Amino acid sequence: MLEEYARHLLEGWLPVIVANRAPVEVQKKGNRYIATRGAGGLVSALSTLASSTDAVWVGCARTEADREVAEKHPRSPVSITGDDGRSYRIGFVTPDEETYDLYYNHISNPLLWFLQHYLWNLSHNPTIDRDTDHAWTEGYVKVNRLFADRVVQAARRGATDPQSSGKGRGKDRPLILIQDYQLYLVAKMVRERLPAVTLQQFIHIPWPTPQYWKVLPSKMRDPIVEGLLGNDVIGFQTPRDCRNFLLTCEENMGLSVDYIEQAAFVRGRTIWVRSYPVSIDVDAFVEKAASPEVLQEQRNIRRWRPRKLILRVDRSDPSKNLLRGFAAYDRMLQAHPELVGEVQFWAYLQPSRQDVPFYRKYLEDVQHIARELNQRYGVKGWRPVRMELREDLNRAVAAYKEFDVLLVNSIYDGMNLVAKEGMMVNEQDGVLILSENTGAHGELGQWALTVNPFDIDQTADVLYQALTMDHRQRRARLNRIRSVIRQNDIARWISSQLQDIRDLASPGRPRNRSARRRIAS
Ligand code: G6P
Repeated sequence: MLEEYARHLLEGWLPVIVANRAPVEVQKKGNRYIATRGAGGLVSALSTLASSTDAVWVGCARTEADREVAEKHPRSPVSITGDDGRSYRIGFVTPDEETYDLYYNHISNPLLWFLQHYLWNLSHNPTIDRDTDHAWTEGYVKVNRLFADRVVQAARRGATDPQSSGKGRGKDRPLILIQDYQLYLVAKMVRERLPAVTLQQFIHIPWPTPQYWKVLPSKMRDPIVEGLLGNDVIGFQTPRDCRNFLLTCEENMGLSVDYIEQAAFVRGRTIWVRSYPVSIDVDAFVEKAASPEVLQEQRNIRRWRPRKLILRVDRSDPSKNLLRGFAAYDRMLQAHPELVGEVQFWAYLQPSRQDVPFYRKYLEDVQHIARELNQRYGVKGWRPVRMELREDLNRAVAAYKEFDVLLVNSIYDGMNLVAKEGMMVNEQDGVLILSENTGAHGELGQWALTVNPFDIDQTADVLYQALTMDHRQRRARLNRIRSVIRQNDIARWISSQLQDIRDLASPGRPRNRSARRRIAS
Protein backbone atom coordinates (compact mmCIF):
# COMPACT_ATOMS: atom_id res chain seq x y z
CA MET A 1 0.00 0.00 0.00
CA LEU A 2 2.74 2.41 1.00
CA GLU A 3 4.54 1.60 -2.21
CA GLU A 4 1.65 2.79 -4.36
CA TYR A 5 0.99 5.78 -2.20
CA ALA A 6 4.61 6.88 -2.19
CA ARG A 7 4.78 6.53 -5.96
CA HIS A 8 1.63 8.59 -6.37
CA LEU A 9 2.85 11.41 -4.14
CA LEU A 10 6.20 11.47 -5.86
CA GLU A 11 4.74 11.85 -9.32
CA GLY A 12 6.87 14.44 -11.10
CA TRP A 13 9.76 14.19 -8.64
CA LEU A 14 12.97 12.26 -8.67
CA PRO A 15 13.74 11.69 -4.98
CA VAL A 16 17.33 11.69 -3.78
CA ILE A 17 17.58 10.44 -0.19
CA VAL A 18 20.77 11.58 1.50
CA ALA A 19 21.88 9.87 4.71
CA ASN A 20 25.15 8.93 6.34
CA ARG A 21 24.14 5.28 6.39
CA ALA A 22 23.25 3.53 3.18
CA PRO A 23 20.15 1.31 3.47
CA VAL A 24 22.35 -1.79 3.34
CA GLU A 25 25.90 -2.61 4.32
CA VAL A 26 27.85 -4.86 1.98
CA GLN A 27 30.14 -7.62 3.33
CA LYS A 28 32.25 -10.01 1.32
CA LYS A 29 31.91 -13.72 2.09
CA GLY A 30 34.39 -15.58 -0.13
CA ASN A 31 33.65 -14.27 -3.60
CA ARG A 32 30.09 -13.29 -2.79
CA TYR A 33 28.80 -9.92 -1.71
CA ILE A 34 26.12 -10.00 0.97
CA ALA A 35 24.09 -6.90 1.74
CA THR A 36 22.47 -6.64 5.18
CA ARG A 37 20.07 -3.93 6.29
CA GLY A 38 21.67 -1.03 8.16
CA ALA A 39 21.01 -0.46 11.88
CA GLY A 40 18.84 2.19 13.46
CA GLY A 41 15.52 3.91 13.11
CA LEU A 42 16.45 6.05 10.14
CA VAL A 43 17.09 3.12 7.81
CA SER A 44 13.91 1.36 9.01
CA ALA A 45 11.88 4.49 8.29
CA LEU A 46 13.16 5.19 4.80
CA SER A 47 13.84 1.79 3.30
CA THR A 48 10.28 1.33 2.03
CA LEU A 49 10.24 4.69 0.33
CA ALA A 50 13.62 4.09 -1.24
CA SER A 51 12.90 0.60 -2.51
CA SER A 52 9.42 1.32 -3.83
CA THR A 53 10.35 4.34 -5.92
CA ASP A 54 13.16 5.24 -8.27
CA ALA A 55 14.89 7.06 -5.43
CA VAL A 56 18.63 7.27 -5.39
CA TRP A 57 20.04 6.86 -1.87
CA VAL A 58 23.29 8.75 -1.37
CA GLY A 59 25.13 7.22 1.60
CA CYS A 60 28.64 6.55 2.88
CA ALA A 61 30.64 3.49 1.95
CA ARG A 62 31.43 2.15 5.43
CA THR A 63 32.92 -1.29 4.83
CA GLU A 64 35.73 -2.54 2.58
CA ALA A 65 33.13 -4.29 0.43
CA ASP A 66 31.03 -1.10 0.21
CA ARG A 67 34.14 0.61 -1.14
CA GLU A 68 34.83 -2.12 -3.67
CA VAL A 69 31.29 -1.86 -4.98
CA ALA A 70 31.45 1.95 -4.95
CA GLU A 71 34.69 2.00 -6.92
CA LYS A 72 33.03 0.03 -9.69
CA HIS A 73 30.33 2.73 -9.95
CA PRO A 74 32.04 6.08 -9.44
CA ARG A 75 29.41 8.13 -11.28
CA SER A 76 26.08 6.34 -11.41
CA PRO A 77 24.09 4.69 -8.61
CA VAL A 78 24.42 0.94 -8.17
CA SER A 79 21.42 -1.36 -7.62
CA ILE A 80 21.81 -3.61 -4.59
CA THR A 81 19.33 -6.11 -3.15
CA GLY A 82 19.47 -6.44 0.62
CA ASP A 83 18.73 -9.36 2.94
CA ASP A 84 15.29 -7.77 3.41
CA GLY A 85 14.57 -8.72 -0.23
CA ARG A 86 14.33 -5.09 -1.26
CA SER A 87 16.34 -3.46 -3.97
CA TYR A 88 17.96 -0.06 -3.62
CA ARG A 89 19.79 2.35 -5.93
CA ILE A 90 22.77 3.59 -3.98
CA GLY A 91 25.16 6.40 -4.81
CA PHE A 92 28.12 5.83 -2.52
CA VAL A 93 30.23 8.62 -1.07
CA THR A 94 33.74 7.38 -0.38
CA PRO A 95 35.76 9.51 2.04
CA ASP A 96 39.12 8.03 2.99
CA GLU A 97 39.21 6.27 6.34
CA GLU A 98 40.86 9.07 8.27
CA THR A 99 38.42 11.70 7.02
CA TYR A 100 35.48 9.44 7.83
CA ASP A 101 36.89 8.79 11.29
CA LEU A 102 37.13 12.52 12.05
CA TYR A 103 33.62 13.13 10.74
CA TYR A 104 31.88 10.16 12.40
CA ASN A 105 33.95 9.26 15.47
CA HIS A 106 35.08 12.76 16.48
CA ILE A 107 32.31 15.16 15.48
CA SER A 108 29.01 13.46 14.60
CA ASN A 109 28.75 11.03 17.48
CA PRO A 110 30.78 12.15 20.48
CA LEU A 111 29.98 15.81 19.85
CA LEU A 112 26.70 16.41 17.99
CA TRP A 113 24.86 13.29 19.19
CA PHE A 114 25.94 14.00 22.78
CA LEU A 115 24.92 17.62 22.53
CA GLN A 116 21.51 16.84 21.07
CA HIS A 117 20.74 14.20 23.72
CA TYR A 118 22.04 16.33 26.63
CA LEU A 119 24.53 13.60 27.47
CA TRP A 120 27.37 15.64 28.84
CA ASN A 121 28.48 16.12 32.35
CA LEU A 122 29.34 19.76 31.66
CA SER A 123 31.71 20.21 34.58
CA HIS A 124 34.01 17.71 32.86
CA ASN A 125 33.17 17.48 29.18
CA PRO A 126 33.26 18.26 26.36
CA THR A 127 36.57 20.01 25.85
CA ILE A 128 36.82 21.90 22.58
CA ASP A 129 40.36 22.41 21.35
CA ARG A 130 42.51 22.42 18.23
CA ASP A 131 41.85 18.72 17.70
CA THR A 132 38.13 19.47 17.57
CA ASP A 133 38.77 22.25 15.03
CA HIS A 134 40.82 19.84 12.96
CA ALA A 135 38.12 17.15 13.09
CA TRP A 136 35.54 19.73 12.14
CA THR A 137 37.32 21.14 9.07
CA GLU A 138 39.15 18.01 7.91
CA GLY A 139 36.34 15.58 8.75
CA TYR A 140 32.83 16.97 9.15
CA VAL A 141 33.07 19.79 6.60
CA LYS A 142 34.92 17.61 4.09
CA VAL A 143 32.50 14.70 4.23
CA ASN A 144 29.53 17.07 4.00
CA ARG A 145 31.13 18.51 0.88
CA LEU A 146 31.60 15.05 -0.63
CA PHE A 147 27.93 14.39 0.01
CA ALA A 148 26.95 17.70 -1.56
CA ASP A 149 29.04 16.85 -4.67
CA ARG A 150 27.33 13.48 -5.00
CA VAL A 151 23.89 15.04 -4.54
CA VAL A 152 24.53 17.68 -7.18
CA GLN A 153 25.71 14.94 -9.52
CA ALA A 154 22.60 12.82 -8.84
CA ALA A 155 20.30 15.83 -9.25
CA ARG A 156 21.90 16.81 -12.54
CA ARG A 157 21.81 13.29 -13.95
CA GLY A 158 18.21 12.95 -12.87
CA ALA A 159 16.02 11.24 -15.39
CA THR A 160 18.81 10.74 -17.89
CA ASP A 161 20.11 7.95 -15.66
CA PRO A 162 19.87 4.73 -17.69
CA GLN A 163 19.22 2.70 -14.53
CA SER A 164 16.09 4.67 -13.75
CA SER A 165 13.10 2.43 -14.46
CA GLY A 166 10.64 5.33 -14.76
CA LYS A 167 9.02 5.95 -18.08
CA GLY A 168 8.81 9.45 -19.50
CA ARG A 169 10.53 10.87 -16.46
CA GLY A 170 12.41 13.46 -18.46
CA LYS A 171 10.53 16.26 -16.72
CA ASP A 172 11.01 14.94 -13.19
CA ARG A 173 12.43 17.46 -10.80
CA PRO A 174 14.98 16.39 -8.22
CA LEU A 175 13.70 16.38 -4.67
CA ILE A 176 16.56 16.22 -2.19
CA LEU A 177 15.62 14.60 1.12
CA ILE A 178 18.53 14.97 3.55
CA GLN A 179 18.57 13.06 6.83
CA ASP A 180 19.92 13.88 10.22
CA TYR A 181 22.74 15.45 12.17
CA GLN A 182 25.70 14.04 10.29
CA LEU A 183 24.82 16.19 7.27
CA TYR A 184 23.97 19.65 8.58
CA LEU A 185 26.08 21.48 5.99
CA VAL A 186 24.87 19.73 2.85
CA ALA A 187 21.74 21.76 2.05
CA LYS A 188 23.56 25.09 1.93
CA MET A 189 26.35 23.62 -0.17
CA VAL A 190 23.86 22.20 -2.67
CA ARG A 191 21.76 25.38 -2.71
CA GLU A 192 24.84 27.43 -3.66
CA ARG A 193 25.23 25.33 -6.78
CA LEU A 194 21.60 24.59 -7.61
CA PRO A 195 19.69 27.64 -6.33
CA ALA A 196 16.25 26.50 -7.53
CA VAL A 197 16.38 22.90 -6.31
CA THR A 198 13.91 21.69 -3.67
CA LEU A 199 15.63 20.62 -0.45
CA GLN A 200 14.12 19.16 2.68
CA GLN A 201 15.92 17.84 5.75
CA PHE A 202 14.55 15.70 8.54
CA ILE A 203 16.29 15.62 11.92
CA HIS A 204 15.68 12.28 13.62
CA ILE A 205 17.08 13.30 17.00
CA PRO A 206 16.07 15.95 19.54
CA TRP A 207 16.91 19.62 18.96
CA PRO A 208 18.06 21.06 22.30
CA THR A 209 17.64 24.57 23.66
CA PRO A 210 19.68 27.53 22.31
CA GLN A 211 21.60 27.75 25.60
CA TYR A 212 22.75 24.16 25.31
CA TRP A 213 23.90 24.74 21.71
CA LYS A 214 26.22 27.36 23.16
CA VAL A 215 28.43 24.58 24.47
CA LEU A 216 29.73 24.60 20.89
CA PRO A 217 31.66 27.70 19.79
CA SER A 218 29.91 29.88 17.23
CA LYS A 219 32.38 28.82 14.52
CA MET A 220 30.66 25.42 14.64
CA ARG A 221 27.12 26.06 15.83
CA ASP A 222 26.47 28.93 13.38
CA PRO A 223 27.43 26.98 10.23
CA ILE A 224 25.18 24.16 11.48
CA VAL A 225 22.13 26.43 11.57
CA GLU A 226 23.12 28.23 8.36
CA GLY A 227 23.63 24.88 6.65
CA LEU A 228 20.17 23.72 7.69
CA LEU A 229 18.65 26.98 6.49
CA GLY A 230 19.72 26.04 2.97
CA ASN A 231 16.63 23.79 2.99
CA ASP A 232 13.10 24.79 2.01
CA VAL A 233 11.52 22.75 4.79
CA ILE A 234 13.14 21.36 7.95
CA GLY A 235 11.34 18.50 9.68
CA PHE A 236 11.65 17.49 13.32
CA GLN A 237 10.07 14.73 15.38
CA THR A 238 8.04 16.87 17.76
CA PRO A 239 6.64 20.41 18.14
CA ARG A 240 9.12 20.96 20.99
CA ASP A 241 12.05 20.35 18.61
CA CYS A 242 10.55 22.86 16.15
CA ARG A 243 10.21 25.46 18.88
CA ASN A 244 13.76 24.91 20.07
CA PHE A 245 15.03 25.26 16.52
CA LEU A 246 13.22 28.55 15.96
CA LEU A 247 14.46 29.79 19.32
CA THR A 248 18.00 28.85 18.30
CA CYS A 249 17.64 30.82 15.06
CA GLU A 250 16.35 33.81 16.97
CA GLU A 251 18.53 33.82 20.08
CA ASN A 252 21.81 32.48 18.79
CA MET A 253 21.72 33.86 15.26
CA GLY A 254 19.59 37.00 15.58
CA LEU A 255 17.31 35.84 12.76
CA SER A 256 13.72 36.81 12.34
CA VAL A 257 11.28 33.93 12.95
CA ASP A 258 7.53 33.42 13.19
CA TYR A 259 6.34 30.97 15.85
CA ILE A 260 2.77 30.88 14.57
CA GLU A 261 3.59 30.19 10.95
CA GLN A 262 6.63 28.19 12.08
CA ALA A 263 9.16 29.74 9.77
CA ALA A 264 12.56 31.42 9.76
CA PHE A 265 13.47 34.19 7.34
CA VAL A 266 16.90 34.58 5.79
CA ARG A 267 17.89 36.94 3.01
CA GLY A 268 14.44 37.03 1.42
CA ARG A 269 13.90 33.28 1.76
CA THR A 270 11.35 31.57 3.97
CA ILE A 271 12.35 28.30 5.59
CA TRP A 272 9.43 26.29 6.96
CA VAL A 273 9.80 24.25 10.13
CA ARG A 274 7.40 21.37 10.74
CA SER A 275 7.05 18.31 12.96
CA TYR A 276 6.45 14.80 11.58
CA PRO A 277 6.60 11.99 14.16
CA VAL A 278 8.43 9.17 12.44
CA SER A 279 6.83 5.74 12.49
CA ILE A 280 7.02 2.22 11.12
CA ASP A 281 5.67 0.42 8.09
CA VAL A 282 2.96 -1.40 10.04
CA ASP A 283 1.85 -3.84 7.32
CA ALA A 284 5.38 -4.82 6.39
CA PHE A 285 6.34 -5.25 10.03
CA VAL A 286 3.33 -7.39 10.87
CA GLU A 287 4.07 -9.51 7.81
CA LYS A 288 7.69 -9.87 8.88
CA ALA A 289 6.53 -11.03 12.32
CA ALA A 290 4.66 -13.91 10.63
CA SER A 291 7.61 -15.00 8.46
CA PRO A 292 9.05 -18.53 8.86
CA GLU A 293 12.38 -17.13 10.07
CA VAL A 294 10.76 -15.15 12.86
CA LEU A 295 8.50 -18.08 13.80
CA GLN A 296 11.54 -20.30 14.06
CA GLU A 297 13.26 -17.80 16.37
CA GLN A 298 10.10 -17.53 18.41
CA ARG A 299 10.04 -21.30 18.92
CA ASN A 300 13.64 -21.12 20.11
CA ILE A 301 12.80 -18.37 22.58
CA ARG A 302 9.82 -20.29 23.91
CA ARG A 303 12.14 -23.12 24.91
CA TRP A 304 13.82 -20.97 27.55
CA ARG A 305 11.60 -17.99 28.22
CA PRO A 306 10.69 -17.44 31.88
CA ARG A 307 7.16 -16.98 33.13
CA LYS A 308 7.60 -13.19 32.99
CA LEU A 309 9.85 -11.59 30.41
CA ILE A 310 11.07 -7.99 30.54
CA LEU A 311 12.68 -6.97 27.26
CA ARG A 312 14.70 -4.11 25.94
CA VAL A 313 15.98 -3.86 22.35
CA ASP A 314 18.46 -1.08 21.72
CA ARG A 315 21.70 0.00 20.18
CA SER A 316 24.32 0.09 22.93
CA ASP A 317 24.05 3.85 23.13
CA PRO A 318 24.38 5.94 26.30
CA SER A 319 21.20 7.85 25.36
CA LYS A 320 19.24 4.60 25.82
CA ASN A 321 19.92 4.60 29.57
CA LEU A 322 20.86 0.94 29.84
CA LEU A 323 22.68 1.31 33.17
CA ARG A 324 19.76 2.88 35.01
CA GLY A 325 17.46 0.26 33.49
CA PHE A 326 19.50 -2.46 35.24
CA ALA A 327 19.74 -0.40 38.43
CA ALA A 328 15.94 -0.15 38.52
CA TYR A 329 15.57 -3.89 37.91
CA ASP A 330 18.01 -4.52 40.76
CA ARG A 331 15.83 -2.41 43.11
CA MET A 332 12.72 -4.22 41.98
CA LEU A 333 14.28 -7.61 42.75
CA GLN A 334 15.36 -6.32 46.16
CA ALA A 335 11.83 -5.19 46.91
CA HIS A 336 10.17 -8.32 45.49
CA PRO A 337 12.28 -11.39 46.19
CA GLU A 338 9.24 -13.50 45.28
CA LEU A 339 10.07 -12.70 41.64
CA VAL A 340 13.40 -14.51 41.84
CA GLY A 341 13.20 -17.42 39.43
CA GLU A 342 10.01 -16.06 37.85
CA VAL A 343 11.22 -13.12 35.81
CA GLN A 344 14.09 -12.41 33.45
CA PHE A 345 15.35 -9.16 31.98
CA TRP A 346 16.48 -9.73 28.39
CA ALA A 347 18.69 -6.97 27.04
CA TYR A 348 18.98 -7.51 23.31
CA LEU A 349 21.60 -5.01 22.22
CA GLN A 350 23.20 -4.08 18.94
CA PRO A 351 26.81 -3.00 19.53
CA SER A 352 27.03 0.58 18.31
CA ARG A 353 29.80 3.09 17.46
CA GLN A 354 32.52 1.02 19.06
CA ASP A 355 35.27 3.20 17.59
CA VAL A 356 34.22 5.99 19.94
CA PRO A 357 35.95 5.37 23.31
CA PHE A 358 32.96 6.54 25.36
CA TYR A 359 30.70 4.01 23.62
CA ARG A 360 33.19 1.20 24.23
CA LYS A 361 33.48 2.06 27.90
CA TYR A 362 29.70 2.37 28.17
CA LEU A 363 29.17 -1.11 26.74
CA GLU A 364 31.77 -2.50 29.16
CA ASP A 365 29.93 -0.88 32.05
CA VAL A 366 26.65 -2.35 30.83
CA GLN A 367 28.15 -5.83 30.61
CA HIS A 368 29.68 -5.40 34.03
CA ILE A 369 26.42 -4.50 35.75
CA ALA A 370 24.62 -7.37 33.99
CA ARG A 371 27.28 -9.83 35.24
CA GLU A 372 27.06 -8.41 38.72
CA LEU A 373 23.30 -8.85 38.86
CA ASN A 374 23.63 -12.42 37.67
CA GLN A 375 26.22 -13.15 40.36
CA ARG A 376 24.17 -11.52 43.08
CA TYR A 377 20.78 -13.04 42.35
CA GLY A 378 21.46 -16.06 40.16
CA VAL A 379 20.40 -19.46 41.49
CA LYS A 380 20.70 -22.86 39.93
CA GLY A 381 18.85 -22.90 36.60
CA TRP A 382 17.97 -19.19 36.69
CA ARG A 383 19.76 -15.94 35.90
CA PRO A 384 18.03 -12.59 36.34
CA VAL A 385 19.61 -11.03 33.24
CA ARG A 386 20.04 -12.36 29.75
CA MET A 387 22.35 -10.19 27.78
CA GLU A 388 22.76 -10.64 24.04
CA LEU A 389 24.94 -8.51 21.81
CA ARG A 390 23.71 -9.23 18.33
CA GLU A 391 22.35 -7.68 15.23
CA ASP A 392 19.66 -9.98 13.90
CA LEU A 393 16.33 -8.46 12.95
CA ASN A 394 14.48 -11.82 12.93
CA ARG A 395 15.49 -12.48 16.50
CA ALA A 396 14.58 -8.97 17.59
CA VAL A 397 11.12 -9.31 16.07
CA ALA A 398 10.63 -12.72 17.71
CA ALA A 399 11.62 -11.14 21.02
CA TYR A 400 9.05 -8.38 20.48
CA LYS A 401 6.36 -11.06 20.14
CA GLU A 402 7.28 -12.63 23.46
CA PHE A 403 7.76 -9.87 26.04
CA ASP A 404 5.43 -9.17 28.95
CA VAL A 405 7.04 -5.81 29.58
CA LEU A 406 8.98 -3.66 27.13
CA LEU A 407 11.33 -1.19 28.80
CA VAL A 408 12.11 2.02 26.86
CA ASN A 409 13.68 4.35 29.43
CA SER A 410 15.85 6.54 27.15
CA ILE A 411 17.49 9.62 28.66
CA TYR A 412 16.36 11.54 25.58
CA ASP A 413 15.25 10.03 22.29
CA GLY A 414 14.09 11.70 19.07
CA MET A 415 11.21 9.23 18.69
CA ASN A 416 12.11 5.60 19.57
CA LEU A 417 10.81 3.11 17.06
CA VAL A 418 11.40 0.10 19.31
CA ALA A 419 8.30 1.16 21.27
CA LYS A 420 6.23 1.19 18.09
CA GLU A 421 7.66 -1.99 16.56
CA GLY A 422 7.41 -3.96 19.78
CA MET A 423 3.85 -2.99 20.65
CA MET A 424 2.64 -3.67 17.13
CA VAL A 425 3.55 -7.36 17.03
CA ASN A 426 3.56 -8.47 20.68
CA GLU A 427 1.48 -11.58 21.45
CA GLN A 428 1.45 -11.46 25.27
CA ASP A 429 -0.65 -8.33 25.83
CA GLY A 430 2.63 -6.73 26.79
CA VAL A 431 2.96 -3.48 28.71
CA LEU A 432 5.06 -0.56 27.48
CA ILE A 433 7.17 1.36 29.99
CA LEU A 434 8.11 4.60 28.29
CA SER A 435 10.43 7.44 29.21
CA GLU A 436 8.74 10.82 29.27
CA ASN A 437 11.73 12.14 27.31
CA THR A 438 11.10 10.16 24.14
CA GLY A 439 9.34 11.64 21.12
CA ALA A 440 7.08 8.57 21.18
CA HIS A 441 5.76 9.62 24.58
CA GLY A 442 3.71 12.41 22.99
CA GLU A 443 1.80 9.82 20.97
CA LEU A 444 1.77 6.71 23.17
CA GLY A 445 2.41 8.01 26.69
CA GLN A 446 -1.22 8.02 27.71
CA TRP A 447 -1.47 4.24 27.42
CA ALA A 448 2.05 3.36 28.44
CA LEU A 449 3.45 3.45 31.97
CA THR A 450 5.50 6.63 32.11
CA VAL A 451 8.88 6.87 33.79
CA ASN A 452 11.30 9.65 34.42
CA PRO A 453 14.48 8.06 33.08
CA PHE A 454 16.65 9.28 35.95
CA ASP A 455 14.35 8.09 38.73
CA ILE A 456 15.36 4.48 39.31
CA ASP A 457 13.03 3.92 42.26
CA GLN A 458 10.08 5.04 40.22
CA THR A 459 11.23 2.82 37.34
CA ALA A 460 11.53 -0.13 39.76
CA ASP A 461 7.97 0.46 41.00
CA VAL A 462 6.69 0.78 37.46
CA LEU A 463 8.44 -2.44 36.42
CA TYR A 464 6.60 -4.21 39.22
CA GLN A 465 3.32 -2.55 38.32
CA ALA A 466 3.74 -3.65 34.70
CA LEU A 467 4.58 -7.24 35.67
CA THR A 468 1.53 -7.53 37.88
CA MET A 469 -1.03 -5.62 35.80
CA ASP A 470 -4.21 -7.56 35.11
CA HIS A 471 -4.88 -8.87 31.65
CA ARG A 472 -7.89 -6.75 30.86
CA GLN A 473 -5.98 -3.54 31.46
CA ARG A 474 -2.93 -4.75 29.58
CA ARG A 475 -4.99 -5.61 26.56
CA ALA A 476 -6.94 -2.34 26.63
CA ARG A 477 -3.73 -0.32 26.73
CA LEU A 478 -2.10 -2.36 24.00
CA ASN A 479 -5.11 -1.91 21.72
CA ARG A 480 -5.11 1.85 22.18
CA ILE A 481 -1.41 2.04 21.46
CA ARG A 482 -1.85 -0.05 18.32
CA SER A 483 -4.58 2.10 16.95
CA VAL A 484 -2.43 5.23 17.40
CA ILE A 485 0.49 3.56 15.62
CA ARG A 486 -1.77 2.39 12.80
CA GLN A 487 -3.20 5.86 12.37
CA ASN A 488 0.18 7.48 12.18
CA ASP A 489 2.24 4.92 10.38
CA ILE A 490 5.15 5.48 8.06
CA ALA A 491 2.89 6.29 5.11
CA ARG A 492 1.62 9.30 7.01
CA TRP A 493 5.12 10.39 8.00
CA ILE A 494 6.16 10.34 4.38
CA SER A 495 2.98 11.72 2.87
CA SER A 496 2.71 14.69 5.22
CA GLN A 497 6.28 15.66 4.38
CA LEU A 498 5.67 15.34 0.66
CA GLN A 499 2.40 17.23 0.94
CA ASP A 500 4.14 20.11 2.73
CA ILE A 501 6.86 20.16 0.11
CA ARG A 502 4.18 20.50 -2.56
CA ASP A 503 2.30 23.18 -0.59
CA LEU A 504 5.23 25.18 0.71
CA ALA A 505 8.28 24.60 -1.39
CA SER A 506 7.47 23.58 -4.94
CA PRO A 507 8.95 25.79 -7.63
CA GLY A 508 6.44 28.45 -8.57
CA ARG A 509 5.12 28.65 -5.01
CA PRO A 510 5.76 31.96 -3.28
CA ARG A 511 8.97 31.74 -1.33
CA ASN A 512 9.02 34.91 0.66
CA ARG A 513 7.20 35.97 3.74
CA SER A 514 4.84 38.60 2.33
CA ALA A 515 3.65 36.37 -0.50
CA ARG A 516 2.89 33.61 1.97
CA ARG A 517 1.06 36.06 4.19
CA ARG A 518 -1.12 37.07 1.23
CA ILE A 519 -2.07 33.47 0.68
CA ALA A 520 -2.88 33.05 4.34
CA SER A 521 -5.14 36.10 4.48
C1 G6P B 1 19.78 6.95 14.90
C2 G6P B 1 20.20 8.15 14.08
C3 G6P B 1 20.60 7.74 12.69
C4 G6P B 1 21.65 6.66 12.76
C5 G6P B 1 21.15 5.49 13.62
C6 G6P B 1 22.19 4.39 13.79
O1 G6P B 1 18.61 6.40 14.39
O2 G6P B 1 19.16 9.10 14.04
O3 G6P B 1 21.10 8.81 11.95
O4 G6P B 1 21.96 6.18 11.49
O5 G6P B 1 20.81 5.98 14.89
O6 G6P B 1 23.41 4.93 14.17
P1 G6P B 1 24.74 4.66 13.33
O7 G6P B 1 25.74 5.64 13.87
O8 G6P B 1 25.05 3.24 13.62
O9 G6P B 1 24.41 4.92 11.89
